[in-house]
Amino acid sequence: MEKKRSLIDVIDEYVKSGKVKLPVMDQNSLMVQKEISKSEPDLDRIINLIKKDISLTTELLKISNSSFYKGLEAVKTVQEAVIRLGMVEVTNIILLVCQKNAFKAQDPILQEFMNKMWIHSVGCAVGTQWLARYYQYNNLNEAFLAGLLHDVGAFFLLSIMDQIKSKNATIPHKLIVDIVSKMHTHYGSVLLTDWSLPEQYCKIANDHHNIEFDTTNLLLVMLRFANKVCQQIGAGFIEHDDSDVFACEEAAVLDINDVTIAQLQIKMEDSLRLS
Ligand SMILES: [Fe+2]
Ligand SMILES: [Fe+2]
Repeated sequence: MEKKRSLIDVIDEYVKSGKVKLPVMDQNSLMVQKEISKSEPDLDRIINLIKKDISLTTELLKISNSSFYKGLEAVKTVQEAVIRLGMVEVTNIILLVCQKNAFKAQDPILQEFMNKMWIHSVGCAVGTQWLARYYQYNNLNEAFLAGLLHDVGAFFLLSIMDQIKSKNATIPHKLIVDIVSKMHTHYGSVLLTDWSLPEQYCKIANDHHNIEFDTTNLLLVMLRFANKVCQQIGAGFIEHDDSDVFACEEAAVLDINDVTIAQLQIKMEDSLRLS
C-alpha cells in the first residue's frame, strides 16, 4: 500500500518538476489531426499534408490494404485510398497512425500494456463512430478521435513510468494497473490541453469514468457506452467495469435496443483486426 502511494507521488512530483517533457505530437500529424477535426475539413490540404510525410503515407497505404479494408485491387496512392475507402475511413487511418507513433516504451512489460491499451482505444474509436453514424451525429471524425484519445492519459502514464523506473527494475503489474486507473483521466486532459486540442476531447478524457455525467453531451455518452462495450468484449484490460451494457445508464440515455447493441459488439470485435 505504502509502495503504491509513493510511486504515485513520485510520478506527480516528476511531472510537476518539469523534468518530464510531455510527449510532443509530431507537428505534421498535429496539423492533419486539427484539420480532420474541423466540421468541414479541407480534403486537398489533408492529402498534401499526408503526402509530405513518407511514413504517414506508407502506413496509410499499408492499412488501406489490410484485411479490414481490402478490396479487389491494391491501393497504391493516397488519392486511390481516398477514392476507394472514402474520406471518413482514410481520416480514421491517419488518426490511428498519428496516435500510434506518439507513444513507445523501452520496457517490454510497459510496451505490452500500451499495446493492449491501443487495442482498447481503437475499439472505442470504431465503436463511438459506429454509434455516431447510428444517431446521425454531425461529425464522424470527431467521434472516432474522441474514442481514440479518451484514454490518452494511460499512454502518458505508461511512458512516464518507462522514463522514471530504474533500468533493470520491474514495476509490479497490479501497481501499473492501479496507477493508470487512478490517474489517467486527469493526465489525459492535461496532455490534450497541452496539445491544444478542442475542449470537448479534454472534457471526455477527464469525465469518462465519473459516476455523474452530462447526459446531454451525446459525444460523451456514446464514448462511455462504447468504452463499456469494449470492456465487455474483452478489450478493456486496465479498466474494470462490471456494468451490464444492456442495463447501464448510458444505454438508457441512448435508448439503444439489444439488437443494436449486438451489432455494435460485432463491429467492435471486427475492429480488433485493425490494431
Ligand atoms: Fe478510461
Ligand atoms: Fe477506456
